Amino acid sequence: MKYITGKSKPLTGRIRTASDKSISHRALMFGLLNHGKTIIRRLLDADDVSRTMRNCAMLGAKIEHVDDTLFVSGGQIKEPNDILDFGNSGTGARLSIGLLSSRPMVSIVTGDSSLRTRPMKRIIEPLCRMGAAIYSRKDGYLPAAVIGNKLKGIKYVNDIGSAQVKSAIMLAALACEGKTIIEDPKHSRDHTERLLIQSGADINIYGSRIEISGSEIDSKLEIMIPADFSSAAFLIAYALLKKDSDIILKDVGINPTRTGMLNVLKLFGAKIDLMKQTSFGLEPAADIHVAYQKKEMRGAAIPQELVVSAIDEIPIIAAIAASIEGKTVIKGAGELRYKESDRIDLIVKNLTAIGVKCTEYADGFEIEGSEKIKSADIITKFDHRIAMSFIILGSVFETALKVSDIESIKTSYPGFFKNLMLPY
Ligand code: S3P
Repeated sequence: MKYITGKSKPLTGRIRTASDKSISHRALMFGLLNHGKTIIRRLLDADDVSRTMRNCAMLGAKIEHVDDTLFVSGGQIKEPNDILDFGNSGTGARLSIGLLSSRPMVSIVTGDSSLRTRPMKRIIEPLCRMGAAIYSRKDGYLPAAVIGNKLKGIKYVNDIGSAQVKSAIMLAALACEGKTIIEDPKHSRDHTERLLIQSGADINIYGSRIEISGSEIDSKLEIMIPADFSSAAFLIAYALLKKDSDIILKDVGINPTRTGMLNVLKLFGAKIDLMKQTSFGLEPAADIHVAYQKKEMRGAAIPQELVVSAIDEIPIIAAIAASIEGKTVIKGAGELRYKESDRIDLIVKNLTAIGVKCTEYADGFEIEGSEKIKSADIITKFDHRIAMSFIILGSVFETALKVSDIESIKTSYPGFFKNLMLPY
């Protein structure tokens, strides 16, 4: 389905955006692993997470819903009697393969046509080093068969800064002999570590070094899920760029491994207030106040150390960069080529199509901000974040961009149009 951007209104008031997708996937997996009762409040209601929920149920979790609360009974993982299909979700598939590789049973894991082109070697190699038996298509693509084994701890350096790889190894390590040591020099998102600590697992963290040993999870676990900073990012961008906007985003997760975009916006000259700072379990959260500031912002060179903590926000940062004065340069972001689409390619192609000057690099791009854009077809290849970023851009410029495959938005942020008060 196509969406054509057009007239838009300033955004005001208080908004609670979609719940955190990364934490939602993990909460369900912890519910599956936990022998004690798990209560999950405000799970994200979106396609990616629904897949993980269905798959956890197939693996033996008993899940009961009462309003927006889930009561999960787990601890008895059983062999699935069908293929585990994770749809569009890299997090769901990669973390589950880790979890399954150390359980004594056979599982087949697959996903949609986008997920089946995303690299799985990055998890298959370390898991096989631990002793796992994983048979994928040639070059490590899904579908894959996971034959659960007794695994042994390894040492692993997470050079690419992937939280999915790190988490897959940690979930495998829970049912493993000996200690697993992970060095995470880029400090990728640490939601799995926080949940492991909360649930009493045998984990120790010393700076960028994680040490984890085999342990059953048996605790009374209550997981309250904050709003997703990665979804809030689209509203932050809209409010900054749309005249007369002034919003407060409620209960947004501000885990520092996720909020690199706030530092990027500071470099652009924007002022964002974090109010009522609190915590949801071990996850920090706050209300975010942001208002129109386009005229005070200027593009900048983004330091490479901010890339990992802003990785999912780079498409919307690119949309902001295209709308403000000056040049923005992002490098060291080669991982963007392995997301739901090759995001470097699509950002550069689509910005060029709408008349924004940009240059593509192997690991990033350079964008020259523009006072206006022109109508064009926007190719998204079913990538939700590319679709939402260009809808924001077309809307704040009130220019007709024909954005393709917008069904993808339901994978992470079904309330997107409603929260933005855009016609849909
Ligand atoms: C995620 C980790 C990141 C991120 C993805 C969600 C997670 O991927 O881009 O949207 O929940 O662990 P990588 O681990 O591949 O960098």
